[in-house]
Amino acid sequence: MPNPRVFVTRRIAPEALALLDGHADCEVWDGELAPPRAVLLERAGPCDGLLTMLTDRVDAELLAAAPNVRVVSNMAVGHDNVTVPDCTRRGVLVGNTPGVLTTTCAEFTMALLLAAARRVVEGDAYLRHGLWKGWMPMMIPGRDLHGATLGIVGLGAIGLEVAVRARAFGMRVLYHSRTRKPEAESTHGFVWSPDLASLLRQSDFVSLHVALTPQTRHLIGRDQLRAMQPHAILINTARGPIVDQHALYEALRERIIAGAALDVMEQEPMPLNDPLLMLPNVVVTPHIASDSVATRTRMAVMAAQNLLAGLRGEPMPSCVNPEAVKERS
Ligand code: DGY
Repeated sequence: MPNPRVFVTRRIAPEALALLDGHADCEVWDGELAPPRAVLLERAGPCDGLLTMLTDRVDAELLAAAPNVRVVSNMAVGHDNVTVPDCTRRGVLVGNTPGVLTTTCAEFTMALLLAAARRVVEGDAYLRHGLWKGWMPMMIPGRDLHGATLGIVGLGAIGLEVAVRARAFGMRVLYHSRTRKPEAESTHGFVWSPDLASLLRQSDFVSLHVALTPQTRHLIGRDQLRAMQPHAILINTARGPIVDQHALYEALRERIIAGAALDVMEQEPMPLNDPLLMLPNVVVTPHIASDSVATRTRMAVMAAQNLLAGLRGEPMPSCVNPEAVKERS
């Protein structure tokens, strides 16, 4: 039997490519950035499997162009770039990489929380622009985390790790999630908020940890921002479209809320003329929450393991649509 053909849409960690070596006839897109759509459609054409990134759109068009594909292994926990029902209908298994990035993403969320609360980026710019003339009793006053309330929207794996870290910082943690987590409440003292509005009203900081789905698109819009306190800060390390970014800009400009820290945006890369970039009370980073050397390596390895297992008909370490197998003829 010849090895299956696979297309890897980016140069990933050598440890992951070594796993594929000898087991798959592998083409790796050598660019730093995503292959253009036409290239993706063409290269995927003869393949049995794809190892994709969150910037590659995997939809009916791509699946039609690559009729032999049996596995799409996405190197991310989120898979909103993949139209999973289309894959399932065609018997294509979809892999993702949960677990291996949880702690790294939680740490980065804390970094943004601290940066926004204590105005770290503003302080850096103040010094670099020569504005620091001497010590002042109130120079760039921030807000303490200890004693403040953090509202977590979505207490999945990452939300939970953020909440645990927030407790270590002396914060009170409220959470709103699809399912109540009594064990997390009794172990860590988190408080369940049955509705989002009441969490938003009570929180000094709000951190988003839900997946992007049709139900969570613009979950935070004008009304939700208006429910928040004027000193509140919004943190988003989940997916950009969960927040209505225009509404966020208006809310920040009108001082409806005090600040925001965003690792993800509605449009990525964020255009440099985005009005949010004109506001000093916004911290932005380029979708790097999971971007530590160890974690991106682990994600790549897990994506390679998912791909190989799926192609061999073995259980994948993480498959979001195992029921797809039934659709295979
Ligand atoms: C994910 O895995 O979904 C992250 O956004 C990528 O870091």
